[in-house]
Amino acid sequence: MCGIVGYLGKRNSKEILLNGLQELEYRGYDSAGVAILESKNNEISNLSVYKAVGKLENLRSKMDKCDINNFNIGIGHTRWATHGTPSEANAHPHSAQNSYVVHNGIIENYQELKRELEAKKVVFYSQTDTEIIVKLFEFYLKKLTPFKAFQQTLKRLEGSYAILLITQEKPDSIFFAKYGSPLIIGSQNEEHFFSSSDSPLIGYVKEVTHLEDHSYGYVENSSIFLFDQAGSIKPSMSALASSKLSAQKNGFRYFMEKEIYEQSDIIGDTLLGRIKNEKIYFEELEDGNLLNGINEIKFCACGTSYHSALMASYLFERIGKIRTSVEIGSEFRYKEPLLNKDTLFIVVSQSGETADTLESLKMAKKAGLKTLTICNVDNSSMVRLSDYSLLTRAGIEKGVASTKAFATQATLLWMLSLYIAQIKKSKESAFIANEVSKLRHLSSAMKVTDSLHEKIRRLSKRYLHGHGFFYIGRDIFYPLALEGALKLKEISYMHAEGYPSGEMKHGPIALADPELFTIALMPKNILYDKTKSNIEELSARDSTICAISPYQFELADDFIQTKERDHPMLEFFEMMVITQLLAMEISIRLKNDVDMPRNLAKSVTVE
Ligand code: M6R
Repeated sequence: MCGIVGYLGKRNSKEILLNGLQELEYRGYDSAGVAILESKNNEISNLSVYKAVGKLENLRSKMDKCDINNFNIGIGHTRWATHGTPSEANAHPHSAQNSYVVHNGIIENYQELKRELEAKKVVFYSQTDTEIIVKLFEFYLKKLTPFKAFQQTLKRLEGSYAILLITQEKPDSIFFAKYGSPLIIGSQNEEHFFSSSDSPLIGYVKEVTHLEDHSYGYVENSSIFLFDQAGSIKPSMSALASSKLSAQKNGFRYFMEKEIYEQSDIIGDTLLGRIKNEKIYFEELEDGNLLNGINEIKFCACGTSYHSALMASYLFERIGKIRTSVEIGSEFRYKEPLLNKDTLFIVVSQSGETADTLESLKMAKKAGLKTLTICNVDNSSMVRLSDYSLLTRAGIEKGVASTKAFATQATLLWMLSLYIAQIKKSKESAFIANEVSKLRHLSSAMKVTDSLHEKIRRLSKRYLHGHGFFYIGRDIFYPLALEGALKLKEISYMHAEGYPSGEMKHGPIALADPELFTIALMPKNILYDKTKSNIEELSARDSTICAISPYQFELADDFIQTKERDHPMLEFFEMMVITQLLAMEISIRLKNDVDMPRNLAKSVTVE
């Protein structure tokens, strides 16, 4: 995800900015850039900009000849493409004639503003929403002082932002603003450091100001001028973490924990720019040809990605009204499958490098099938190979046990099922609009509250023994049961199986006894009564039952109550978070390495 750094002071700004960007690398990026005050022949000259696609090393080598002097100022950015492809033109900083801006977030009304400026002959060079900020700034600068022009620019922006802006018109200042995206300032001894997260600031300052929404201002020399909507305010300081690793974990004990918590925020990135006029819109599918000549969809994936694909198969048939099947990569490769050219072949993968999925994709391509990759990593092998790709935008996932990758895949696939329904007209626009309104509630469904986490932490101590776990659910809650069981297996090393609730009586129920733990997914909106009677059968055989449901269930030994929601997908995501936390808390009690479980690798690039 995008990252921001900035510096004003007397040290080597080039190194401070590049090192700062390096600290942000763990968040993932596809291009990077810096705007910096340069010196030529020992004289301060102009602000210059350097940008490069790919690794920071590319930017570093472009900046080899960049010379700096005693007074230094600069801003930098790592970009994860949202609007427009990864390219130098789209990389930040964006510029107007004399000014540069870096920005995290989204300017929702950029198209409208862009049209307004284009009518006034302002020329744009990128496909991004960010460029509008600096173009507006220079437009107002014709009549106003730099600070007033910055204020006026902010008044026009709708959406979310963390912004740093520098201008040749006032080259001793950095202008900043924050709304909805994090921005931190550390100031001491006539130096000012900016960053979108703590780790780049560690080692430079001991205290920082985490800016509040609606705050903005500028720094110059030893001063910081800070404002909110009511006027001038004093910065409030807080201590900075001292360890970079813990700063990257943002105070969480494990990356997995951080990734579970951040799901409710990053899901906004998955949706970003993909909802327009209460419909689903994918810039990447703009040619409109995805479904031309297609009568069937075949998914192929492994592990967690297989589970999100399996969930999607229910939605694709129910909502998109298109025949859909799902294959496990390692099976598909060798089954000598019959492939028809009217099948759209969709691979789902966090990494885009999983060998079995990648080889399956190659097979499908060779057979002449149209292909689409759903992936978290741009430029990965699968993205490069397939005809179309949609990025899930989860940011780098460090925990080996996938959490936010699954959440973003499931969200994107839900959106894709709606997109298909739009094209095939299999659902009315009122239905789509209602689904879109539910998508907007996703973030709150994935939120971890203190009370929920504490409840699961306490409950986890009862589940450290036994001869196994069954996670059971019906419909889309069956893939979620599979995923819940996989999470537990991966990090607790306890035996767990996911099953469709209705299948228990066809064999597995023979295992039922008090030492068999059943984690029962009992949503309100899908087949509640049928699931309930399946669980009653297990209870009658004395299995220990932990029910997850909005409705009290008297036969449960343990009960985790969910909200009474009016849409199965919102229940799905709330229950997903619960199963993730349960697996993690059990693993912590068993003193396992949550982030790096034994025998597992993050990306399985061998057969
Ligand atoms: O990168 P991919 O999504 O293709 O990876 C597939 C599986 O290896 C992966 O989902 C694995 O199952 C995870 N460890 C699950 O937590």
